[in-house]
Amino acid sequence: AKKVLVDVDTGVDDAQSIMMALAQPTVQILGITCVHGNTTVENVCKNTLRVLQTCNRLEIPVFKGAEKPILGKCIDAGDFHGKDGLGDAPDPNAPGLDLVQTEGAVSAMIRIVNENPGEVSLVATGPLTNLALAVRMDPSFPSKLCGLYIMGGNTESRGNTTVCGEFNFAADPEGAYIVLNEYLCPTYLACWEFTCYNKLSWEFCDAWLSQDTDKARFMARIFNHSLKVSQTERFEKEFIVGPGFVSCDSYAMAAAINDAFVLESDQHPVSVELTGTHTRGMMVVDTVGFMKKTHKAFILKKVNLEILKEMLMAALK
Ligand code: BDR
Repeated sequence: AKKVLVDVDTGVDDAQSIMMALAQPTVQILGITCVHGNTTVENVCKNTLRVLQTCNRLEIPVFKGAEKPILGKCIDAGDFHGKDGLGDAPDPNAPGLDLVQTEGAVSAMIRIVNENPGEVSLVATGPLTNLALAVRMDPSFPSKLCGLYIMGGNTESRGNTTVCGEFNFAADPEGAYIVLNEYLCPTYLACWEFTCYNKLSWEFCDAWLSQDTDKARFMARIFNHSLKVSQTERFEKEFIVGPGFVSCDSYAMAAAINDAFVLESDQHPVSVELTGTHTRGMMVVDTVGFMKKTHKAFILKKVNLEILKEMLMAALK
């Protein structure tokens, strides 16, 4: 089995990517660590437990992590994901926060990776605060990973949160900076523009959500809010090329759990802008070598969308 540790800010597309991994018999999720982002870290823990309950997988441990970025204030993505992060469609039978582990997320990440050195793929689909803290607590942490898969950043300075800032990087620029400069393990990036250029069709979305299962009904409920707002002018501009929907986090997860998914990637050193009137949080790609960095990230370019569709379909079966 592929051993995976997931760091999330659950979020509708985080929920989709978690459910996709849960449905793959060859994937073993060792734990889910939560971070502030789309909503508060408390909501993220609740949302993650709800996803696990829907999939009957509450045995997977959930850990609470950072409630704020390394510097500055929290931002959230309530306008897209709903205030509670899951479309404001609450479930009265949702599990309580008492199911969250007492061990903190950052300690748990370090412990789990030390128990499985060289074997764990870390999938990060929220702001990178927990990962930045992990390398501060244990500088050898990144070298023990088998790979790091991030949804975040941008390659063409197109933002979805600020003019040039993609949400996960804009929500913690210092966290992203630390990770991109200090995680010298194989690093795969599913960046904002790439996910938009690889949208899935509305026809697929309809077929996906209309499966006659509790998981599909759960997804249809939590997805409803984002689906509505995606069709407003602001989000249509943000999502670059229409029509269709983007399950951003699922691209990073798919890359981690299915070796056939990524067909082509660019390899370049990358970093993050920390200052600048409009550019704080923007990812910078060094195609020439100005930064004198030897570590290059794999920037996803071409993927097999049929594989993604199959795995998303299976997620709601
Ligand atoms: C990212 O921001 C969040 O709102 C999504 O969950 C995704 O991780 C896209 O920029």
